[in-house]
Amino acid sequence: MSIVSYELNGDIGIVRINNPPVNALSHQVRKGITEAIEAAGTDTSRAIVLACEGRTFIAGADITEFGKPPQSSSLPDMLLAIEASAKPVIAALHGTALGGGFETALACHYRCAMATARVGLPEVKLGLLPGAGGTQRVPRLAGVEAALDLITGGNPLPADTATRLGLVDRVFADGDLLAQAIDYARELVAEDAPLKRVRDINIDPQTAPAELFEGYRKKLAKRARGQLAPQHIVSCIEAAVTQPMDAGLQTERQLFIECMQSPQSAAMRHLFFAEREAAKVRGLDRDTPVRGIRTVGIIGGGTMGGGIAMNFANAGIPVTLLELDDDALQRGLGIIAKNYATTVKKGKLTEAESGRRQSLIGGSTDYRDLAEVDLVIEAVFENLDIKKQVFTKLDTVCKPGAILATNTSYQNVDAIAAATARPQDVIGLHFFSPANIMKLLEVVRAEKTAATVIATAMKLAKTIGKIPVLSGVCYGFIGNRMLRYYGREAQLCLLEGCTPEQIDTAMQNWGMAMGPLAVGDLAGLDIGYKARQGLSEAEKGDPKTYAVADMLVEMGRLGQKSGAGYYQYDPETRARTPDPAVLEVVEQQAAKHGVKRRLFEDEEIVNRLIFALVNEGAKILEEGIAQRAGDIDVVYVYGYGFPAARGGPMHYADSLGLKQVYETVCKFRDQYGAENWEPAPLLERLAGEGGTFAAWQK
Ligand code: 3HC
Ligand code: NAI
Repeated sequence: MSIVSYELNGDIGIVRINNPPVNALSHQVRKGITEAIEAAGTDTSRAIVLACEGRTFIAGADITEFGKPPQSSSLPDMLLAIEASAKPVIAALHGTALGGGFETALACHYRCAMATARVGLPEVKLGLLPGAGGTQRVPRLAGVEAALDLITGGNPLPADTATRLGLVDRVFADGDLLAQAIDYARELVAEDAPLKRVRDINIDPQTAPAELFEGYRKKLAKRARGQLAPQHIVSCIEAAVTQPMDAGLQTERQLFIECMQSPQSAAMRHLFFAEREAAKVRGLDRDTPVRGIRTVGIIGGGTMGGGIAMNFANAGIPVTLLELDDDALQRGLGIIAKNYATTVKKGKLTEAESGRRQSLIGGSTDYRDLAEVDLVIEAVFENLDIKKQVFTKLDTVCKPGAILATNTSYQNVDAIAAATARPQDVIGLHFFSPANIMKLLEVVRAEKTAATVIATAMKLAKTIGKIPVLSGVCYGFIGNRMLRYYGREAQLCLLEGCTPEQIDTAMQNWGMAMGPLAVGDLAGLDIGYKARQGLSEAEKGDPKTYAVADMLVEMGRLGQKSGAGYYQYDPETRARTPDPAVLEVVEQQAAKHGVKRRLFEDEEIVNRLIFALVNEGAKILEEGIAQRAGDIDVVYVYGYGFPAARGGPMHYADSLGLKQVYETVCKFRDQYGAENWEPAPLLERLAGEGGTFAAWQK
């Protein structure tokens, strides 16, 4: 079947698009639709239905064409042709009508949809704005506030909400979409329904005063710090109110092109593809069989175990949570109940749904209750001996073929697997805290992990709404191994002259979701402290890199949970304030370690912390711990609050040019010593060759 086909069904012309996997608007699709609309204009049809084959209506412009020379016909031209049609054009939506796909539907005169369809303008997630009339047509149909929410948020709406907002005209509960769309078209013809062109709607300026836009600009400056696209979206929607349609379209086009050419959009488009690449395991056959995961056991109902259990319950998979004793179990279940109650209170979940999900989480203190589960995830204390004991027990009770996973942050998964007689079934599934919210899942392949177990884990991640990244075994896997060096530099900057707030503010202004010391306070400073207790002096490294952190813990300053860490916290609001006592500790430790304090520029703080990540990332890449540079970027954006608009540490380094990064690392080596700043061999090589991490292949 051709990519776009046109046929007559009685008096209805049918334009059908068939461009798998998601019917993206490639140049051939645009050309095909334009030609079909032209053909329909001159035949005996009285109305035209635009529908798609496969799993979805058009899911957007073809992102792979971005950044390449444009080919005619352009999307805006195609939409003008649809809108100008003298015969009504009816879009028939199923799956996800997104971006340019939804804009195509909006240029049609009527829209019908399956109840399961979702519509939206997710361009903002690619650092873009809808560039084909979305910012002009949505406010005309749905009102300015709804348009601002939809387009700056980027999240799709279900068909019924879209109908309520006036974005969709007719919804079909079930049945055959095309047949119903044709009936709907005939109904419109019979009624002599008008050609409803969205451009003809005028927005009452009273509904959208200038303060409304200012309010959004301020809100977005906070929510999407430093991002261009959300601010431009507000300007486009404002233009929909203050300018006639064609002028508004021009404003939109101009700002769209500005966004498209920005490094921010390049970074976010890189992430879009990196996220999808990361799910693919090199060397693993596409047809590798996967095991069914119908029931799950989780060992340890603490911070992580509870959150992990919620993931499965949210996906409809029953969980048995196993704890040491009944008290610990009730505590764990209690925290889960509280988390669900908070979600209900925020209006994000109904009481009934919350109850249904919680009913899927059972508790136990008896390993025999795990005999039949398909997957066990261990989340007990971070101690290798305890973990080995748990796995030895699991080996005796779990059915053959059950997958045995550990959520360890640092321990050697090979050693854990060796505590069983079935190392092929053992894998690391490293969730991030809070586990019910954070999107990242590091899937850790141990030496003997079977291909089917890896394939199952990658698929399972998608089922529970996670983004999986494969990691090899090493201390800290991809994310935490790199974090160590980022944290080291934060500690050294502190000792050498910074205040905690200077470091956190510099990193936050650069785009990190939170500064490193505020993150430490949130996670609990005792976690790192305890982890260090298990290491030899050599493993702990330079005492300067943990002197302040250790001191704070020994003073009882464990972070937010104890009301004080690097900052002081208001017990009610958790608002943080700087604490002179911390500066005293820092100064004392600097003197003790012979470090002279000096003034810092923010740029140095950022470069030291970020290039420490990049340098370690280069080692991880060359060692094959990560499959590709993009995987490291996905880990940092989805697991550590790295700004998406900078594309992840490796993309950021590529975008600066590796020569510049290498030279700065060499400068740091000369200034601070080779012990911390020896350039990674891969960085050095690629800088010399003019290469990039993205293009490098092991
Ligand atoms: N262009 C090119 N390729 C696309 C694409 C697009 N718009 N959308 C998806 N793909 C590709 C993916 O890269 C993936 O390729 P792969 O199999 O080789 O890895 C394949 O299609 C399947 O995608 P998913 O794995 O994401 O499939 P899902 O079923 O999980 O999700 C989806 C489907 C919800 C449509 C999701 O792919 C998605 O969100 N796509 C992007 C939608 C989007 O951002 N559209 C706006 C584009 S910008 C635009 O339209 C500008 C306009 O305003 C001018
Ligand atoms: P936690 O201390 O909050 O919870 C551990 C739970 O395990 C406790 O409730 C304890 O009673 C239970 N437990 C201990 N031994 C047990 C046993 N033998 N059988 C059954 N239950 C047992 O610890 P947390 O933070 O949940 O960490 C768990 C694991 O997850 C650790 O390996 C940690 O490294 C890892 N992890 C922690 C993250 C975090 O941010 N807290 C992030 C990612 C991984």
